[in-house]
Amino acid sequence: MSYQKIIRPLLFQMDPEQAHVLVHSLLKNYGKILAKVSGGLTYNDTDLSCDLFGHPLSNPIGLAAGFDKNGELTEVLQALGFGFAEIGSVCARATNGNPKPRLFRLPEDEAAINRLGLNGHGADAVAERLGEAHFSLPIGLNIAKTNDPAIAGEAAVADMIYTFNKIRGLPITYVTVNASCPNTKEGIVTEGDQMRLLMQELQKFNSTKIPILIKLSPDSTTEFVESIVDAASTFKIAGFVCGNTTTSRDDLKTNSDRIKEIGMGGLSGAPLKEKAIKLCQRVNAKKKDWQIIIGCGGISTGKDAYDFMTAGASLLEVYTGLIYKGPTLPQDICRELSAILKQKSQDKSTDKSRSKQVAYTQD
Ligand SMILES: Cc1cc2nc3c(=O)[nH]c(=O)nc-3n(C[C@H](O)[C@H](O)[C@H](O)COP(=O)(O)O)c2cc1C
Repeated sequence: MSYQKIIRPLLFQMDPEQAHVLVHSLLKNYGKILAKVSGGLTYNDTDLSCDLFGHPLSNPIGLAAGFDKNGELTEVLQALGFGFAEIGSVCARATNGNPKPRLFRLPEDEAAINRLGLNGHGADAVAERLGEAHFSLPIGLNIAKTNDPAIAGEAAVADMIYTFNKIRGLPITYVTVNASCPNTKEGIVTEGDQMRLLMQELQKFNSTKIPILIKLSPDSTTEFVESIVDAASTFKIAGFVCGNTTTSRDDLKTNSDRIKEIGMGGLSGAPLKEKAIKLCQRVNAKKKDWQIIIGCGGISTGKDAYDFMTAGASLLEVYTGLIYKGPTLPQDICRELSAILKQKSQDKSTDKSRSKQVAYTQD
């Protein structure tokens, strides 16, 4: 059944958050069956197989944080064609998040604005759920500070450590520290000292040496990004997710009155791509070889994926693309990316044999 012709128009008649809740619960209850009846959504070639901290991945396309905040889909996500998935953000305390409405579509821009505000079941409930789950693919867990401005300074670090200690014993592949959520009163972390203290404390408790990544904001200054990347290598941080949503509203096709009416929130989807790529490039120029970049922001085609890889990302994550392109997105990106990579390597070998021929004729 065509997602774009039949299912999307129906979903787009609904309130965006209600549509998400419906899709999430359909996936939770019928995900594996849906994948089977739709003819299989997995990319079955092995040419994109890769590695995530020693765990083999069937392909480099992951689900970004925010789609499965409470870890309820870990058993079905492989059937939807993902190579890995990031669960969360999970906070120490269960919270309802910001008042509704708080999720908006911008169809003309293939974008979304959200100010959910880190709603979720909290670390205890998610840890219990994940402890009983049979993961269908490698899982990363994204943790954030509880959305409460009263939790600040050392208490903020303690709040994150609580969640980390709850989840670090689970069979997860990595932990991402979300220091870049624009949808809380505190906003994105801008204090280098606070980030350094957090990294230090996390590693103090990291007895199992689980790889820790930092999720950065495309809105951070170059100086902040560079100082965090520098500090990250000192604290043996394994990599970066580049990146989160932006508060920028530049260059949107959507009517400016509509943008004003929507108000605050993080913008995701196609208009975010250039900013996220710039963030990847900045991080790539500073990071150590042993640190990885997961590219994220406006990826919905193989070309997008390829552009992020050229900017230094070895793995990719998607969210808003799913809203516009539907459940075949991971498979479609893989097919297109594979074709681009094959074409590039053919071009390279043609160039090589041409330059050999030129050298031969010149001799
Ligand atoms: C509705 C929604 C909720 C999100 N929630 C989270 C979250 O809880 N934690 C987080 O780190 N990122 C969250 N994100 C950001 C995404 O993980 C991703 O970084 C961002 O949307 C850019 O990717 P995209 O353009 O493919 O959507 C959320 C995004 C959306 C659209």
